[in-house]
Amino acid sequence: MKIITGQAARGKNFFKRPVLINKLWRKIDSDSSIIISAPRRVGKTSLMRYLEDNPKDKYYVVYVITESVHNENKYYKEIVKAILNCDSIRKRDKVINSIKDLAKNIFKSVEEVGIDSVKFSKITEFDYYEKFIEIMRSIDLDGHKLIIMIDEFAQTIENIQQKEGAAAAVQLLQSNRALRQNSDINSKFQFIYTGSISLEGIARRMDASKFINDLDILKVTPLSEEEGKNLVNELLKGLYFTMDEDTIDHMLYEIKWLIPFYIQLAMDKILDICDEENLNAIYNNSVDIAIKRMIEENNKFSSWHERLKVYKNNDYKFIIEVLNIISITEAKVITYNEIYDLAVAYDLEQTYKELLNTLIDDGYINNDEEGKLYTFTSPILRMWWCKKIAN
Ligand SMILES: Nc1ncnc2c1ncn2[C@@H]1O[C@H](COP(=O)(O)OP(=O)(O)O)[C@@H](O)[C@H]1O
Ligand SMILES: [Mg+2]
Repeated sequence: MKIITGQAARGKNFFKRPVLINKLWRKIDSDSSIIISAPRRVGKTSLMRYLEDNPKDKYYVVYVITESVHNENKYYKEIVKAILNCDSIRKRDKVINSIKDLAKNIFKSVEEVGIDSVKFSKITEFDYYEKFIEIMRSIDLDGHKLIIMIDEFAQTIENIQQKEGAAAAVQLLQSNRALRQNSDINSKFQFIYTGSISLEGIARRMDASKFINDLDILKVTPLSEEEGKNLVNELLKGLYFTMDEDTIDHMLYEIKWLIPFYIQLAMDKILDICDEENLNAIYNNSVDIAIKRMIEENNKFSSWHERLKVYKNNDYKFIIEVLNIISITEAKVITYNEIYDLAVAYDLEQTYKELLNTLIDDGYINNDEEGKLYTFTSPILRMWWCKKIAN
């Protein structure tokens, strides 16, 4: 297993999480459409691609990323393209012919339906929502069910909201739901949606929760301590230096919020240190240096800050101040009362709770059981925030 710090981890480099994978398949087997919910970098894309690479019998799995899509027709076009070009569907002779015929029939002016791919004519634009329905009506899936995974769906909704307004964004939620409920075709497919920003949060803010309340939610949690150790040991197998158990424990303790990404990033920095200093065994002092270097990697964290720029004026100032305070103060917390006082100062008594919930949903902060103290979810992100944003 190789260190991967950015791209989705695939194939041999994917650290298997059987509990999570089984949970997801169970939800799929129960015919639900699903939201995979987790903050950025927790491993949603890797999980989806694992499903795509290792489908269970009787399932075809299609992966689509719609992060940069900002209108409804383009959204459905991406899905239609992905289905018609899906390798696992196309590699069955029987199905490939049916898909070719299908494409020819449905897209009368389709430019080219080759063995390798279906290309669409640039001139004619179709109503791809309708095309999707037509395809689903007539496609012969040979007894399989089609799993359509939409990565960064929440971002698509937000793009549309910004470009065309909330009504258009709600319309996409609505049309997705209409498909899931279309009893003519819905026995043939299921959707799995993800987003690094919380879809539930976006829907709530647009007063559109009812359009996603039929979806089952799978939360991708960080690794347990044991899983974290296993991941480190798997990575060490491909590396030339050793780390004893105490050192691994120390590293995991410092990272605390054990998402695979932070473990990978730490191991990557440790490898640099070994290379530079000719070490073949690693102890706590090098771990500490590695963690300091981790937070120097601006491009790995800056999206946490940039993302917040969708908030404007006092909303934005309030959010940044809350995060700044937590990151700077000695105790690394902010109390509920302090937050309320800030909300009053920014004239946000009516809406600050929603802003606070978004920060929680999106994985920035969480609170203690009584809801009195708020801290950063990840100490690594807190250190980065303190250094690069608050100061
Ligand atoms: N199952 C996994 N095995 C190994 N590394 C992983 C795994 N899941 C996530 N990662 C690490 O996290 C990074 C981000 O993963 P990704 O799947 O893109 O997360 P997300 O889609 O939630 O943002 C990867 O580059 C890799 O370092
Ligand atoms: Mg992703």
